[in-house]
Amino acid sequence: MSATGSNTPHRALRSGGSLQGRVQVPGDKSISHRSLLFGAIAEGTTRIEGLLPAEDPISTAACLRLMGVSISPIEAGAIVTVEGVGLDGLKEPEAILNCGNSGTTMRLMLGLLAGRDGRHFVLDGDASLRRRPMRRVGQPLASMGADVRGRDGGNLAPLAVQGRPLKGTVIGTPVASAQVKSALLLAALTAGSATTVIEPAQSRDHSERMLKAFGADLTVGGEMGRHISVNPGATLHGQSVVVPGDISSAAFWLVAGSLIPGADLTIENVGLNPTRTGILEVLDQMGAQIEVLNPRDVAGEPVGDLRVTQGTLRPFEFGEEIMPRLVDEVPILCVAACFCDGESRISGASELRVKETDRLAVMARQLQAMGADIDEREDGMTIRGGRPLKGTSLDSETDHRVAMSLAIAAMLAKGDSTLARSEAAAVSYPTFWDELERLRS
Ligand code: S3P
Repeated sequence: MSATGSNTPHRALRSGGSLQGRVQVPGDKSISHRSLLFGAIAEGTTRIEGLLPAEDPISTAACLRLMGVSISPIEAGAIVTVEGVGLDGLKEPEAILNCGNSGTTMRLMLGLLAGRDGRHFVLDGDASLRRRPMRRVGQPLASMGADVRGRDGGNLAPLAVQGRPLKGTVIGTPVASAQVKSALLLAALTAGSATTVIEPAQSRDHSERMLKAFGADLTVGGEMGRHISVNPGATLHGQSVVVPGDISSAAFWLVAGSLIPGADLTIENVGLNPTRTGILEVLDQMGAQIEVLNPRDVAGEPVGDLRVTQGTLRPFEFGEEIMPRLVDEVPILCVAACFCDGESRISGASELRVKETDRLAVMARQLQAMGADIDEREDGMTIRGGRPLKGTSLDSETDHRVAMSLAIAAMLAKGDSTLARSEAAAVSYPTFWDELERLRS
């Protein structure tokens, strides 16, 4: 059962204290999902070091196992092996594929399964996932000949996929979404002819990098890498994948380290893929003191250690252009805005309304409960920072990134807080609460 659905007691969040020391954030969630999925349809064994041992990748592995893929146990520190079944080797599952809380699992699975001719699949998830839009994947897949059905005209899970032969085509995606793009690239691998996906703006490019490394016939062209073409039929070969630490998890420490008096944190082994580093651009704009140490390349992804020390931050302003590079970091940036003097402005962020929760509404509601001065708009918010926040009863509303963002806000507030549904953090960062205690001084 998903941790986000359970009913555990409210967590006490103490105000005050500092954060010092070194921390290794868990493996990148996006790369973890992809290493399991691509390993499953490769020939031979894929060996994954640093796979994120959290609920979302565990959902992906559970779905793949139901289709005959052998995957070793996913545990902290374990090297995970995936015995690939080849491009068309997935078996029809006898049970529903439960994607839990994971949008990446459901959307990438749709692309993976749509072309499995003659096989039938049913995908479902938790209450949050059942509310999230799937037409953005089902519709372009339909232009390749896919048969995906669900509630609300195929938009909402539970979804049924009847595998059919797909044809290659040229698809312009309506949103810059790596999940949509990756689903289409997976479908393209076994289509009857070449497929080109054109994105409105470049989203994270882990799929492109990894599919090439696995042996797919994939080329990236156009302005800013926005046109991705796949020639079907190339055999994928099992790889050794090293998963870097997740910059989206590092973001909580980066903001905490910039704001909390006396903080000095070094976050080791963080993935610094340029399609993911918008958080560093914004923190730089705010005057944060962050140093990149030991920059290196690990298995095709740029990686470095990040040292952050506390300083005075300025308000920020950002919009649509940067959004694909920091979409998951907006909740913690809302917290940062509350603690710097002046007005910060977020626009072009309507995608946040269809994440695990409506993150604009939830962050505005929770921070307002602490006394923050926030105007919420359809595509963003304005936050007037600098007034002290007060500790209160908070709620993650089942969202992992909200839970961790509020933990940092609560440390900086005057007076203690409590957090309902704090266990949501386990979706992407199961050791977050232990690490917070360990780093606290
Ligand atoms: C992800 C892409 C992002 C992100 C999500 C993971 C991925 O979603 O919010 O947490 O692994 O492809 P979109 O690209 O759909 O916005």
